Amino acid sequence: MKPKLVFDLDKLASSQTFKVYKEDLEHIASSLYVRLHYMSFDAGKGVFIKDPDGNEYLDFSSSGCVANTGYCHLKVVEAIKKQAEKLTCQCFSLVPNKMNNELAKKLIQITPGESKKKVWFGCTGSDANDLIYKMVPEYKKRKWIISFSGAYHGQTMGSYSLTWHQCATLFSRCPGVMPAPYPNCYRCPFGLEYPKCNLCCANYLEEHILKNLCPAEDVACIHLELIQGDGGHIIPPDDWVIRVKRICEKYDILFSVDEVRTGVGRTGKWFATNYFDKWELTPDLMVLGKPLASGLPLSAVIGIPGVLDFATASNLYTLAGSPIPVAAAIATIDIIEQEDLAKNAYIMGELIRNRFKELQKEYEIIGDVRGRGLFSGIEFVRDRKTKEPADKETHKMLFRCWQLGLNMMNVGTHSNVFDVTPPLIITREQTEKGLQIIEQSIKDVLAGKVSDATIEKFAGW
Ligand SMILES: Cc1ncc(COP(=O)(O)O)c(C=O)c1O
Repeated sequence: MKPKLVFDLDKLASSQTFKVYKEDLEHIASSLYVRLHYMSFDAGKGVFIKDPDGNEYLDFSSSGCVANTGYCHLKVVEAIKKQAEKLTCQCFSLVPNKMNNELAKKLIQITPGESKKKVWFGCTGSDANDLIYKMVPEYKKRKWIISFSGAYHGQTMGSYSLTWHQCATLFSRCPGVMPAPYPNCYRCPFGLEYPKCNLCCANYLEEHILKNLCPAEDVACIHLELIQGDGGHIIPPDDWVIRVKRICEKYDILFSVDEVRTGVGRTGKWFATNYFDKWELTPDLMVLGKPLASGLPLSAVIGIPGVLDFATASNLYTLAGSPIPVAAAIATIDIIEQEDLAKNAYIMGELIRNRFKELQKEYEIIGDVRGRGLFSGIEFVRDRKTKEPADKETHKMLFRCWQLGLNMMNVGTHSNVFDVTPPLIITREQTEKGLQIIEQSIKDVLAGKVSDATIEKFAGW
C-alpha cells in the first residue's frame, strides 16, 4: 500500500506545529538549533511519536540514538515515578547512594575488560568526553591526545577540541589535540582502496604523526568512536582498529572509546567494542551517554581507576549521577537484557541494510549502505563515480519521509547520509513500514515533488 500523507503542508500556517516554530524562533537561542524542517513532537510511545496537531509518526531516529528502549517504556516510566516519589535530588558528589553503586557494578560487569575498573558519572556525552580531555593528559603526564577526522565528541570546550567535524570550526580550540585521518574507505583521504592501501592511514599515524607532529612519548591517549556516528556512520576496517590498539600498547598510550552513540545495545551487541575479541581490544576507558538513562541526563566513563581517581573533587557536576536518571539507567539496562534488544537490533539492522542494498540496484543516488545493528548509514551521491554528495536531495528525502509519517535525521561531514537508528524495540512490521516510506520518499524526490523552497529555511546538520 502506498504511504499516505501524514502532514499536509497546505495546513501548516494554521497548525499547532507552526505556532511552536514561531515561538521557538522568537524565544529560543539559535545556537541550540539543528532544525531540519517544521516538525515538533510532544508525545511518544514505543516507536511512535506525535506532533502537537495529533499526527503520529514512526520514528527512525530514537531522538539521536537516545530512545533505545523506545519512547516512554513502561518500566522506565515506573522507575522514574517510583524514584520521584522517594527522592528527587541529592548531590551525589557530596553523599554516596546505593543505587549509584548498583549501576556502577552493572556497568563494570557489562563493559569489556576484566581488570579493575571504576565508574565516573556525568550529565551528557560532552562532559564525559571532557573528562578524557582534562584528566588523561594529567594522569599520563603527557600533553597530547589524538582524535580523528570526522569525529564528534561534544560541545564543552574539551570535547569540542576533540571533535573534528564541520560543526566544530567556529570557535577556538583548547590546545593539545592532534587530528589523525579516520579510515573512511568510501571516501579514502589518501585516495586509496582497502585492503590494497595496506592501512596507509594507520602507517601515517605511526610514521608521521607520532614521529613528526606529536612524538609518541608525549601522547597520553588515542580517543575514538569505533563507528563514527555524526561523521556519517563510518565503519573502520577491523584490522585498522587492532593496529591502532597495538600502536597504543607499543608506545604506552591509553586507548579510549566514545560509545555515546554506539553503546547500550545499538549496534547489535552491548557495545561496538564487543565486535572485537576481548584479548585483542579492551579499551582503557569507555565513554557512555545518550541512551544510558533512556533520555534522562546521565553519562558515564568506565575504566582504569588511575585516571578516574586522579584527584579528589577534580571533575564533578552538582547534578551528575542524580537519583532519577540513575533509577532510569538501572531500568534501561534491565530492559535491554530482559527483552534481548541487542539481538533484535542485530536482526532488524540486517533487514534494513539488505533492503537498502536491493534499492541500491534501482536507485543510482544510493552510493553506499553500511552499518551494524540498528546503526545504519545510507550515503547519497549525485554520481556514483565522482561521489558528489547529494546533500540537498538527502534533506528533501528526510522532509518527504516526515510528510509521509516517518521521522529520521541525517549525519555525515557532507550532510548526505541517512541516520537510520530506530528504537531497538522495533518490530519487523514497523521496520517494513518505515522502509516503504523511505522508498516512496526517494521516488518522490527524484520525481521533483519536493521543491527547494520547502527546505531552504533550515540549516540541518
Ligand atoms: C559519539 C558522540 N559523543 C558525544 C556526543 C555528545 O553528547 P551530548 O550531546 O549528550 O553531550 C555525541 C552527541 O551526538 C556523540 O554522538
